[in-house]
Amino acid sequence: MKKKYIIAGNWKMNPQTVEEAKRIATQVKKVAIKMKKIETVACPPFVYSNLIKVDDGFSLGSQDVYFEQAGSFTGEVSAEMLKSIGAKYVIVGHAERRKMGDTDEVVAQKLNSAVDAGIQPILCVGEKERDQNGDYLGVLKNQIGASLGKLARKDVKQLVVAYEPLWAIGATSAMTPADVHETALFIKKVLSDTYGQEYALSVKILYGGSVTFKNAKDIVALGQVDGLLVGRESVNPEGFNLILKEIDGI
Ligand code: PGA
Repeated sequence: MKKKYIIAGNWKMNPQTVEEAKRIATQVKKVAIKMKKIETVACPPFVYSNLIKVDDGFSLGSQDVYFEQAGSFTGEVSAEMLKSIGAKYVIVGHAERRKMGDTDEVVAQKLNSAVDAGIQPILCVGEKERDQNGDYLGVLKNQIGASLGKLARKDVKQLVVAYEPLWAIGATSAMTPADVHETALFIKKVLSDTYGQEYALSVKILYGGSVTFKNAKDIVALGQVDGLLVGRESVNPEGFNLILKEIDGI
């Protein structure tokens, strides 16, 4: 069977009440449970994790993880803890966390602790801006290399990469499908140079940044990516459900 598309919702620090979180989960479940070609991943704030159930057609993801295994790290959550509540994915290196201080080295530590615990990392990468000379490709290449750290070849199959150009996050329009396609190929090439083609081709590449039901299908079909990482529209169940239906119809 063909690989399923991953449509992951990054709820960020939303919504503000558990009642509203229940409403979102309940609404999305109605569609997610019927999807044939999609793995729907919800990444809610930690406190709402128990609302996301596999029986409802979801996989659970986390928005972050700490790299230490246990101990005196007030406010942090370990990969083992996430595993124990059924999380399958964890986002690492989201632009908003990088802005709050996560360096490439920290991202690499988080990614490796996730893999060690058996959780699939969704590694976010993306350039701040696109220059005419194509320097952003070098930026991306370095960011990918440094964020993977010591990830072993045998673990590469666990990896998901979410390409999120910073200028498209929280913006008014997404990147064009043609540019998404070109950049996804570039990311595969970088992975292939490090791990070999067979391994690189097993990595799923997602696109994120201002995805809506209007652009989702073109980005996936023409951009030839394996799915989407959705921000704002993931806490708008009507919009998110339309994205799911668009992608399931490809
Ligand atoms: P957005 O966010 O869909 O609201 O642009 C994407 C993200 O930050 O993952």
